[in-house]
Amino acid sequence: MIELKQVSKRYPNGHLALDDVNFKLPAGDFAILTGPSGAGKSTLLKLIAGIEPLHQGQITVADFALHKMPEKQIPYLRRQIGIILQSPNLLSDKTVFDNVALPLVVAGYSYKEICSRVRAVLAKVSLAKKENCYPVELSSGEQQRVSIARAVVNKPAVLIADEPTGNLDGKLARETMQLFEQFNQLGMTLLIVSHDLNLINQFKHRRLLLEEGKLIDAPLQPA
Ligand SMILES: Nc1ncnc2c1ncn2[C@@H]1O[C@H](COP(=O)(O)OP(=O)(O)OP(=O)(O)O)[C@@H](O)[C@H]1O
Ligand SMILES: [Mg+2]
Repeated sequence: MIELKQVSKRYPNGHLALDDVNFKLPAGDFAILTGPSGAGKSTLLKLIAGIEPLHQGQITVADFALHKMPEKQIPYLRRQIGIILQSPNLLSDKTVFDNVALPLVVAGYSYKEICSRVRAVLAKVSLAKKENCYPVELSSGEQQRVSIARAVVNKPAVLIADEPTGNLDGKLARETMQLFEQFNQLGMTLLIVSHDLNLINQFKHRRLLLEEGKLIDAPLQPA
């Protein structure tokens, strides 16, 4: 479902952020990408999402071959995958409801279907009472949960998430991981970035470790 072959990424300033990264995440897998600050985790997710241009190597995600794909097809890729960025990029002039509804509006769902799906997902992230709030009225953890809701409301086949629990306390972080596990049990493929060892050691998932742009497929930690 996600495959990287010999992927390297050099930023325009010359910095080599990823160095010959190879990995394959089959459909239905759940992997956690970890590693120190500056290792290249966000860069890797941005390449997979088509946010950063790919110049070297091959990336295939949900049947899209990014290395062969014209830029104008990227919006189609984005409709197939759920993306949670490190800082929630919510639309400040739209309510929580409208932010979460956006992928469904783009996909042409009926208003009735949009209402039921948005309310169901907001309940799952414990934000049912905040649907009429604007992002500025929310805490950073609440904003993060809105971006999680927006990423999964369309039930994408693939979810990539960059530190989705970074602004959440221990209990909410664990509940969010459990929510991701529920989606995984329904068949979603997940690649989640986290450097919170305390949290990820509570979950038995494949571990990918990035260090200075190099990827190591790390064995599971004993429970
Ligand atoms: N747009 C950019 N231009 C130049 N260098 C960049 C750019 N974005 C990131 N980098 C550099 O690439 C390296 C990897 O950055 P990246 O954001 O992928 O790290 P990260 O593993 O996500 O770190 P963190 O855990 O702090 O979020 C860092 O050294 C960073 O300074
Ligand atoms: Mg990062």
